[in-house]
Amino acid sequence: MFDLIVKNATLTDGRSGIDIACRDGAIAALEPGITAPAKEVLDAGGYLVSPPFVDPHFHMDATLSLGRPRMNVSGTLLEGIALWGELKEVQTVDEIVARAVQYCELAVAKGIGAIRSHVDTCDDRLTGVQALLEVRAQVKDVLDLQLVAFPQDGVLRDPSALQNTIRALDMGVDVVGGIPHFERTMADGAESVRLLCELAAERGLRVDMHCDESDDPLSRHIETLAFETQRLGLQGRVAGSHLTSMHSMDNYYVSKLIPLMVEADVHAVPNPLINIMLQGRHDSYPKRRGQTRVRELRDAGITVGFGSDCVMDPWYSLGKADMLDVAFMGLHVGQLSSRADMEWCFDAVTSNSAEIMGLEGYGVNKGAAANFVLLQASNKIDAIRLRAHRMAVVRKGRVISRSEPVTHQLSLTDTPKDLDEAKIGQ
Ligand code: FE2
Repeated sequence: MFDLIVKNATLTDGRSGIDIACRDGAIAALEPGITAPAKEVLDAGGYLVSPPFVDPHFHMDATLSLGRPRMNVSGTLLEGIALWGELKEVQTVDEIVARAVQYCELAVAKGIGAIRSHVDTCDDRLTGVQALLEVRAQVKDVLDLQLVAFPQDGVLRDPSALQNTIRALDMGVDVVGGIPHFERTMADGAESVRLLCELAAERGLRVDMHCDESDDPLSRHIETLAFETQRLGLQGRVAGSHLTSMHSMDNYYVSKLIPLMVEADVHAVPNPLINIMLQGRHDSYPKRRGQTRVRELRDAGITVGFGSDCVMDPWYSLGKADMLDVAFMGLHVGQLSSRADMEWCFDAVTSNSAEIMGLEGYGVNKGAAANFVLLQASNKIDAIRLRAHRMAVVRKGRVISRSEPVTHQLSLTDTPKDLDEAKIGQ
């Protein structure tokens, strides 16, 4: 007896007519025509079953705070950071927990199964850390929440940031963060990378730094991050988030830099929605896009995962926990328009990001965790094209969110009919 059988699924590798049988939280069988009994049966109707979306870069201590205490008028990263400083002064643990749990519920409904969230450690009370540790425990049955100790004001620039970051790690935060381009000097930026990577190496933790989130082509902290990764034996466990200065760097320098990143097996996490919104704000025309060199990093063999970064907070007023919006924007800004490129953009919000977070048992495979999402689409490209409707979300073999397929009831003639966008063009 299985706990759940999903009938007639199409998988992301193109196989169709597949049944997925789940038992004890894992995928026990994956083949056509499973006839064994199950406590629950879900008809996928030939639609796409994907492993859950994974958001490798988010700020859950700030989410859904839009307008508190005021709006970001200039729209810049720096006004956002200043505004966040004002909000930090007044927000409470309970408020952050309430907003974060609300966001997690939305994320689950949108098929997100794991989120890596930075949490600001430049706060003597560690309000955000307390709140998100509580949220991590509250949501653990439905969502993997990985926390990054993030000294937002600079681990060297803020005099108590290092001690508070260490306190956060002692309290159970999972990953070491940083923001070298926000330190006072390039030298301090490099020093911050060194000491934070050493802190991670001592504790056996992963690293994910906001790195070179700038239009300054001379912001080259990713070079130091790759160097320290290799020196400390952290290969495969370090991510550079944003890396937007690479968009503006000299091509000759990049031809040296990318092989260094490959040697160090550093991962890259662009955040397309936020990068296209915040970068290039000091430009007149032509105006730079500011997204890092996604195609070149990917083609060199670097694991690239797209993050969402912000939803309704001091930096970004929009967003709805939709990783397909993120993939859609990354695809356009990166001009990733071939069939293979578009399919890869789906991987950038699923399997690539799972690898960056170090998730275990990920994927719709026999023996993997029974975590997946049923999308009203027939393949990965259509999922992005439609930002496909989430018909069901399964976690540990249990349906935790469900919704009827969306169709339009047309009455154009005397014979009404249902129009399913996911069937158009087939
Ligand atoms: Fe961020």
